[in-house]
Amino acid sequence: MSQFDQIIDRKNTQSVKWDTLEASYHRNDLLPMWVADMDFQAPEAVQSAFQSYLNQGVFGYTIVPDSFYDAVIAWQKKRHSFTVKKDEILLSSGVVPSIALSVQAYTHPGDAVLIHDPVYPPFAQVVEENNRKLIRSQLYTDDKFVMDFAEMERLIQEEDVKLFVLCNPHNPGGRVWSQAELQRIGDLCKKYQVTVVSDEIHQDIVYQPETFTTFQNADPSFKDFSIILTAATKTFNLAGIKNSMVFIKNPDLKQAFEKIQKQNHQDEINTFGVIGTQAAYEGGSQWLDELLEYLQENINYAYNFFQNTLPNVKVSKPEATYLMWLDFSAYHLSDNQLEDKLVQEAKVVLNPGISYGEKGSQHMRINIACPRATLKEGLERIASAFR
Ligand SMILES: Cc1ncc(COP(=O)(O)O)c(C=O)c1O
Repeated sequence: MSQFDQIIDRKNTQSVKWDTLEASYHRNDLLPMWVADMDFQAPEAVQSAFQSYLNQGVFGYTIVPDSFYDAVIAWQKKRHSFTVKKDEILLSSGVVPSIALSVQAYTHPGDAVLIHDPVYPPFAQVVEENNRKLIRSQLYTDDKFVMDFAEMERLIQEEDVKLFVLCNPHNPGGRVWSQAELQRIGDLCKKYQVTVVSDEIHQDIVYQPETFTTFQNADPSFKDFSIILTAATKTFNLAGIKNSMVFIKNPDLKQAFEKIQKQNHQDEINTFGVIGTQAAYEGGSQWLDELLEYLQENINYAYNFFQNTLPNVKVSKPEATYLMWLDFSAYHLSDNQLEDKLVQEAKVVLNPGISYGEKGSQHMRINIACPRATLKEGLERIASAFR
């Protein structure tokens, strides 16, 4: 039995995924397979680091030790062949907050910001909440999601795009953008002087034989006009500690980011975020390798289930992330009807594809990061409503 087979009761733990369902849907029999966190315990190394901090019982203001930076630098080097120095690392309370700070640092109100469609919903929210002009370029599906470079170039030119927010690997599509794809998109942004924010929070959840390329490794010149956002929180199931890293090699981009951070007093970091991230990077490697094997088997299980039991739901295996993108268009339901059927008949909660952009209509995103028994239960529930 794998450690990940253990069923942990997350109800009544203040969990967004588990403890908001009754208020939203007025039922208590729903299985949540939505929000992107995992129904697994964090690595032992993280739990014991928190425990020793708790044991000393004083929780005053803290500093970020050099050993934190050493752990981040070593992780990037070992796992991603990426060289980053201490003075190129800023900390923030999350990747989404960092996208918001980037929008404020690198654009003015009214400026055009480019994102893909579909993509993780806060990308669009951050742009619009900051009164920037939202421009979307649709990914198209050719078995897997592919970027439309011609459309992106047209939009960049026509709309005078100033900033592009890239999701690498891609949520919800599970694509690991190849070096060649990153080269093309980077060359385009360089040509038109578009700053790139690369959200790489899913960089560690990548399945063999795919390999992840950080945007700044795709070409040595890309560091001049881009910043990288990442975190240990998705990888090690620590979303609640609210901690992330920003890698900025261009001193001008760094100065502009720091200025906005200071203006908003957003440069002070939660102690648990620092402790959890450092402990995970220092002691979580083996846990992560075992997790990846387990997730890969869950993906294979779900993929085979849909192929054999519900072939009308089209699905492909993600190259990265523990999220799968399900195409329900064969059922000809509206987005509301689809969500209703899943909640009321299947009694599962997935993320409606439409929330990721128009391209997500008639799709759903399922989170498979749960014990296999829970996954089987969820898939059976879906099958019983759609068979
Ligand atoms: C692409 C992407 N970026 C950012 C986040 C959230 O990051 P944070 O909690 O650090 O703001 C998620 C969470 O699912 C995500 O999928």
